[in-house]
Amino acid sequence: MIDHETRNRILNAADITEVIGDFLTLKKRGTNYWTCCPFHGEKTPSFSVSPSRGIYKCFGCGKAGDAVRFVMDHESMSYVEALKYLARKYNIEIREQALTPEEQTANNNRESMMVLSSFAQDWFSEQLWVHPDGQAIGLSYFHERGFTDKTIRKYQLGYSPDKWSAFSDAALKAGYRKEFLLSTGLSIEKDNTLFDRFRGRVMFPIHSLSGRVIAFGARTLRQDKSVAKYLNSPESETYNKSAILYGIFQAKTAIVRSQKCYLVEGYTDVISMHQAGIENVVASSGTSLTTEQIRLIKRFTPNVTVLYDGDAAGIKASLRGIDMLLEEGMNVKVALFPDGEDPDSFARKHSSTEFEAFLKENEKDFISFKTTLLNGDVKNDPLRRAELIKDIVGSIGAIPDAITRTVYVKECSRLMDIGEEVLLSEVAKHRRAKLYDSKPYTPAGKPEETPKAAAPPEPADPRLYFEKAEEEIIYYLLKYGVRHLFTVTHDGQERIITVAEYITSELHNDEMELKNPQYRKMFEEYRRLSEETDEERIKYFINHPDRALSELAIHILEDLPPLTVQHYAHSQEPETLRLPRMIPKAILVYKARSVKAAADDLSHRLQEAQAANNPETVNALVERFLLLQKTSTRLAAELNRLIF
Ligand code: CTP
Ligand code: MN
Repeated sequence: MIDHETRNRILNAADITEVIGDFLTLKKRGTNYWTCCPFHGEKTPSFSVSPSRGIYKCFGCGKAGDAVRFVMDHESMSYVEALKYLARKYNIEIREQALTPEEQTANNNRESMMVLSSFAQDWFSEQLWVHPDGQAIGLSYFHERGFTDKTIRKYQLGYSPDKWSAFSDAALKAGYRKEFLLSTGLSIEKDNTLFDRFRGRVMFPIHSLSGRVIAFGARTLRQDKSVAKYLNSPESETYNKSAILYGIFQAKTAIVRSQKCYLVEGYTDVISMHQAGIENVVASSGTSLTTEQIRLIKRFTPNVTVLYDGDAAGIKASLRGIDMLLEEGMNVKVALFPDGEDPDSFARKHSSTEFEAFLKENEKDFISFKTTLLNGDVKNDPLRRAELIKDIVGSIGAIPDAITRTVYVKECSRLMDIGEEVLLSEVAKHRRAKLYDSKPYTPAGKPEETPKAAAPPEPADPRLYFEKAEEEIIYYLLKYGVRHLFTVTHDGQERIITVAEYITSELHNDEMELKNPQYRKMFEEYRRLSEETDEERIKYFINHPDRALSELAIHILEDLPPLTVQHYAHSQEPETLRLPRMIPKAILVYKARSVKAAADDLSHRLQEAQAANNPETVNALVERFLLLQKTSTRLAAELNRLIF
């Protein structure tokens, strides 16, 4: 852990134009610097760097962040790696933070496990390259599969001999503890004796993002169908298989450079494609694709092409993977290999130019893919056709970005020969159903938790309706939180009320809390901050390690806030002078909307209770309803007073 103070020294030293200037050529225009965005292909610059705020933002693809985020994204580094990189650049000495004893132990355990895994990888490789059995069986197997020595070394492949405890014995002898042999799953204990988990198999080490060995996949060399083809390390403190992708360490630079990631099924597909010169390839080996894995890819690129075997039986099941990718806002393409081929076999039979040409020709957007896949038997069957359309509408509905949705609606309309309006309204219906179903709207398109209040059935999503008001409150809080808003006289003493104090007490008085989880998190964290000026607080959020919060802060401060308080939107008066009028009004608007939604919800439940002939519930609800109505009237009156 880098301690807080060191982290702040790094953040303060990092000059955003210098940091980005090491990678891109910046041109000054106005107060900002501009260049073509490195994160998406473009010809005219829409990537802006603001030295005063210490942030960058691309108006094309929406990527934004501070110097640390830029290094993370551009150089495919973790947060800590990026901080260390900047520390080196600015000659800042890194002091590691003291950990609690528990953290120390957990860290030590993880570290010990990884050191052991690295020892194991060395040992398996030595078996492969040096020992007669390894050479005769393992190395020749890899050669037969067409892997070159260079490839075998690059992926650190190895061989585990067909003995009961050769590895365990070697590890114990080298001083590694039994505890870690067991927790990594490299050994298994039975009747007080250690056995090797992997025996007589070729070994595929699985690397973390930063290239450390965290687990193994092991392939048998027997044809015998009764043995599992692959044995994998069990989940452990260092290996969370749903959060890692095979090959990501070797692929990440190529993914960033090409702004594309190929997703395949197996270890050997990854390795063969890499050897064929297509290095931006990873596999979700052994699991069906998870959201965590998708977000891992998204750190490097939003563009994914999924490669399916021609004969994959589970292809319809894997379509779920496509919807998940879409839901995370990825641009998804799909390519199907000819029957009986997989990326591995195809790469062995073709040159890399042919391979690339094949991908270029065969990759389709997901709609064309689904249409061709499901269309064969659908053409003249109206029922199946309707089903296919419903399926595609579901996929389009999963896409968080509205513009992208429109593009795909057009595409679908063309391919399926069905009117755009019909499709649009179907997609809208689908999205609405999903919104009410469970997931709250979050600005980054990332659902977090379900809000408590059920939404009343209104055409406009009431959650969006609140959010504008909530966003505005956060905007005032972030930008002007410690500014003096009013002076009040209390017990003969003058007291200054800051913007933050006012907002907090207003919300507290009515026992309200922000409904959007991200905003609420920001609000709560804001109140715990020790920074003194608004600038420092803003910096804190812009530099926030939680990407969602950092992006949200930039979004709120940089993009014009959507003023719920329409009345002032076009005023020429400087914003700071208007605060004492705007902020109370924004809060009133927010309260009024919350109360209205709550009242709507109540009246809905009231109807249900009446229908169910449940007089007790009806009475209780009526009472609360009247109370809400009173509040609602009061708020409306206050609002009116404010306007006139
Ligand atoms: N897999 C697994 N356990 C199994 C079978 C498969 O974990 N019993 C995972 C492996 O990550 C494997 C992937 O699923 O790489 C794809 O399986 P498959 O296509 O059968 O293996 P290939 O990688 O193609 O291996 P090979 O070409 O050597 O048969
Ligand atoms: Mn294969």
